[in-house]
Amino acid sequence: MLPLPGTSPMAKISGKIENDIELDRQALNQGLCQWASTTLRDLPWRSTRDPWPVLVSEVMLQQTQVSRVTPKYIEFLERWPSPEALTQSSVSDLLKLWQGLGYPRRARNLYDSAHQIVQAHDGKVPSALEDLLLLPGVGPYTARAVLVFAFELPVGVLDTNVGRLLARWTGRPLGPKEAQRIADELVDPNRPWLWNQGLFDLAALRCAKGNPECNRCPVKEWCSWGGVGVDPAVGSAAVSTAQTRFEGSDRQARGRMLKALTSGPVPAAQAATIMELQDDPVRASRLIGDLQNESLVTMQDEALLLGDLL
Ligand code: ADE
Repeated sequence: MLPLPGTSPMAKISGKIENDIELDRQALNQGLCQWASTTLRDLPWRSTRDPWPVLVSEVMLQQTQVSRVTPKYIEFLERWPSPEALTQSSVSDLLKLWQGLGYPRRARNLYDSAHQIVQAHDGKVPSALEDLLLLPGVGPYTARAVLVFAFELPVGVLDTNVGRLLARWTGRPLGPKEAQRIADELVDPNRPWLWNQGLFDLAALRCAKGNPECNRCPVKEWCSWGGVGVDPAVGSAAVSTAQTRFEGSDRQARGRMLKALTSGPVPAAQAATIMELQDDPVRASRLIGDLQNESLVTMQDEALLLGDLL
């Protein structure tokens, strides 16, 4: 039988922590960590605690699937094993490697972060939340992921998948602050790295958006939902809606432009054609303006170039 809302062990855990649930917590930690230690996917960023690779992986994983990230992550670190190494390349070299990952503003931000790390932190990725949050493109999610996956600090990392899982566990949609509070509260303080990686994989592999495999879930006895009835994750915080269409989008047109520029400068007059926007020159020039404002593209002598003029 499913526990009544508000009375399941999970509901107690997510509310005020009471002494008498210590046992439940221990069993929950044990269940998840045991599952994680045998089932965790073998992903290259999981075999390091060096904060630079961890930061790079988390930036790449923000909006891109694991299977696309993996080869790019390996190539990136062979080339730029430290922030210092990246600062010695041009942003256009980085944008060339970034092809296929999408959302190139992340690459620009990572490049600027590398400079900031070298200038302000002696080349070492900082370990304080407030310093991480000052790096370009590093928001609360990425900062927390670095704290846990590099420095093994006991905070909860809340991504889309984990947000879905927590809503199901608690049996109701969660607001963003509440979801983060629960994620932080639940972390096993002795095994924060394993706990968070385990939760990522449990959410991605068992507690999937469609077709959750509740019968193969190692912690199903603590779940308030159990796969029956209305899914509490619908409308909950940190649970994304479907991605907007790529075909015909600004993202697609920008991607075409950046791809063309990886082979060398292009006359500005050809930009609309390259973006397949020859029928909409106003939109084409708006997009080129955006790319310039984001320091992804530069104009020089009527030609467009990738990155900065450094
Ligand atoms: N997505 C974001 N961070 C991740 C990680 N460390 N492992 C798997 N997927 C992730």
